[in-house]
Amino acid sequence: MNVFGIVVAAGSGERFGQPKANVELAGRPLWRWAVDALESGGCDHVVVVGPVPGGIAGGVRRRDSVAAGLAAAPEGATHVLVHDAARPLASAALVRQVIDRLAIGGTDGVVPGLAVRDTLKRVQDGVVILTVDRADLVIAQTPQGFVIEALVRAHAFDDDDATDDAALVERSGGTVVIVSGGDHNLKVTYPADLVVAEALMP
Ligand code: CTP
Ligand code: MG
Repeated sequence: MNVFGIVVAAGSGERFGQPKANVELAGRPLWRWAVDALESGGCDHVVVVGPVPGGIAGGVRRRDSVAAGLAAAPEGATHVLVHDAARPLASAALVRQVIDRLAIGGTDGVVPGLAVRDTLKRVQDGVVILTVDRADLVIAQTPQGFVIEALVRAHAFDDDDATDDAALVERSGGTVVIVSGGDHNLKVTYPADLVVAEALMP
């Protein structure tokens, strides 16, 4: 297998208050941590989509940035991992776990997932209409891995946006399985998340 890695780093960081890719954690930009995890976890070739040295131009929606990355896939890539620059704490071991599950085969996609700890409620106009059973819910993380043709096919299937790549593959009829996510693999979304990430640094 030949694994291509895409780090998406082209978001506008609206909730954070500024674009996040070049924000530093322990003296290194977030995108660098993400690239290192993919490289040391077994990706053969990694590109960054976003305003970083050597990066390629992203798109308006996250899926457009992923598409830009896919267009830069090297000849011969069989699988692809897509990872958020905003997740600096993903470990090489987690990357390896995703790749190992892809290597087993029988699935189009592999997503790291965490069990939900809080009780979830569905609300309409401020009133609870349902307490959702959390037993069969997981929180999806990145890196997410795919058979490269399955992700390319998923992009051709529809033009709706999605907050992760697995959603595109699922909608196009692909199979996606879950592996155990990283406990510390948080996404830096708000400024306070950076403080937490700093505290969780290995
Ligand atoms: N991303 C991207 N291109 C986009 C949107 C998002 O490459 N058009 C990337 C972000 O840079 C980030 C990852 O996708 O690494 C996860 O997205 P998110 O955390 O939502 O980042 P932003 O979209 O930048 O933040 P916000 O939604 O608050 O604007
Ligand atoms: Mg976003």
